[in-house]
This record gives sequence, C-alpha cells and structure tokens, in this order.
Amino acid sequence: MRQESPIPSQSIDEDDFLASVRAGLRQHPKSIPPKYFYDAHGSQLFDLICTTPEYYPTRTETAILERHGAEMAEMTGSACTLIELGSGSATKTPLLLRHLSDDAVYVPIDICAPHLRNSTQRLQAMFPAMKMQPLCADYHQLPERVIRHRAGRRQVVFFPGSTIGNCTPDGAVTLLKSVAKLVGPGGGLLIGVDAKKSSAILNAAYNDAAGHTAAFNLNLLTRMQRELGAQLDAAQFAHHAFYNEMHGRIEMHLVSQCRQTIGMNGESFEFEQGESIHTENSYKYSTQEFKHLARKAGWHLQSTWHDEDELFNVHYFTLSAAEPLKLAR
Ligand code: AVJ
Repeated sequence: MRQESPIPSQSIDEDDFLASVRAGLRQHPKSIPPKYFYDAHGSQLFDLICTTPEYYPTRTETAILERHGAEMAEMTGSACTLIELGSGSATKTPLLLRHLSDDAVYVPIDICAPHLRNSTQRLQAMFPAMKMQPLCADYHQLPERVIRHRAGRRQVVFFPGSTIGNCTPDGAVTLLKSVAKLVGPGGGLLIGVDAKKSSAILNAAYNDAAGHTAAFNLNLLTRMQRELGAQLDAAQFAHHAFYNEMHGRIEMHLVSQCRQTIGMNGESFEFEQGESIHTENSYKYSTQEFKHLARKAGWHLQSTWHDEDELFNVHYFTLSAAEPLKLAR
C-alpha cells in the first residue's frame, strides 16, 4: 500500500469544537461558527450543494475563472506563490494553475484533512512539475510559518467561493489585514465575492429543492452527537435560511421544533419552541462596498471580473496602489 504523505496540521480538534459549541449554546441568541460544517460528511454535502441548479455561486465563479483565468494570472505573475484559503475540493483551482508556470508554488490551506489530501493529489497529477505544499489549518489563524519561500516570488492569496461572506464586515477587514501581513509588500489577493441581488434568487440558493443545504445545516447536529456525545434528536430541528436585506446577508438557522433540552458533557442547554441556533451568515457585497471594505485593510482594487448578470465578482487587489505593472503581451 502506498504511504500517504503527512500534511502539516494545526490543532483543529474536538476540544475546539466542544469549546465553541458550549460557548455558542450559552449565548442568546444561540450560535455555532460555520467552520464546523466541514467534517468529512459536511464537506461532501457542500460539494452536492454546489451541483444544485439553485446554488449559482459555484458555477458562476467557475465560468468567470474559465473565461478570465489567463488575465488573472497575468496580474498575479505566472511564477507566484499561490496560497488558497479554504481550498476544499479545489475544483476551480486548475482554471488558474493552468495559466501559471511550473515555477509557481501552490499552497492549499483547508480545515478538512481528507479533502486536502485528495485535492492536492489530484492537482499534483494534473500539474506534476509544480511545487505544492498543503497545510491543514484554519485560515482564521494564519500561521506565519506557511510561507518560507518569499525570495523573489510574489505571494498571492486565492480566496474563491465567497467564503469571505461568512465573516461579518468587521471580521472580513480583520481577516484581510492578516492576509496582507501574510503576503507582505507587493503581495496580491484574488478573491471571489457573491454580489447583492434579488432576494428570490438568494433565498432559492440556500433552500435547494433537493434538500442538500438542509442536510448540510442539520449535519452540524449529527456531528455534535458523534464527536461530542450530544444528546439530541436532529429531527426536532429544522433548517431555516433567508436573506436578511437590512444586513445584506443570508442567515442560516437550526430552529427547534419544540421545547427541548440538549445534554452535552454534563451540561444542559434549553430550547424554547421556535428558538434557533444561528449557524451561518453569508454576506453579499456590491463591488463598491467590497472595494471600500478591503481598502480598510490596506488593499487597492486593480481589476474586477464578473458574469453577464453580475451575480458574482472576482476581484484582484494589491497592497500598493500602483501595482501590478501589466506585463507587455
Ligand atoms: C462556502 C461560505 C461560500 O455562504 O454560500 C452554501 C456556504 N452555506 N450553502 C455560502 C454555504 C449554505 C457558502 N460558502
């Protein structure tokens, strides 16, 4: 049997999960951070969401990368270090990597080790000469040690999928500041951001008819049962997702269908009927809004690519106003 190469990993363990769930269920309103959706099963469910007709972000962003990947690579420089945050299955990454040179270095960072291993193997097979350095980590705690090979190479963070939407606007500024610190002067940021649009389209995207989004949300409860020994009946909770126009965000909740108690680790957490656990925010931004948000973290917008209907934007930012000099064709 072939030996699996070890992937360096930061501590993402059951203690984190337990501490987060305990803290979150003590709050009013109750909440659990969305990063815990992504255990092995949750990551599979997310991939299924991406195939539904309602969930437009994935296929729209893919089409943008297909169409404009060459231009993007021209801006990042073809021999850059490309650091992908929350790489997951990394299905869109080849659309960029195919325009980079073999001198580029690819650093995928993801919280789900099996996903990271599989996707890195797949990409390495597609681009055998490219150096790849996977890291299993939570990108909210970006380790300085990721990037040891700064010499002469532009560091570019690739953050597709509108994952930044999971942060509050203030949280997004904080994250983008840490990304700026990570890439250093001259660095770049290629980021996919879901756009504001009609609430009908948004609500449908988070309430797919096949029920994958509901299963994805409810999987958090099953994960709590399995990993934390939580005593609960997942059937007594319902998926609820809606566009909150005032905040410009989709909210996902798990709504208690009755008065009930979750027992966990000797503690009990009481629920009223209709009380929810807030499990996710997914903020939507116009280009102007996101440009201003990123500016607060020191980033200068260089270019934006989008689909015809402007459902989704991919932006390229740099840390100084003048960069990059576009290479002569
Ligand atoms: C991976 C955070 C971009 O917010 O659209 C999809 C996650 N949640 N359906 C999103 C998600 C429910 C997704 N992000």
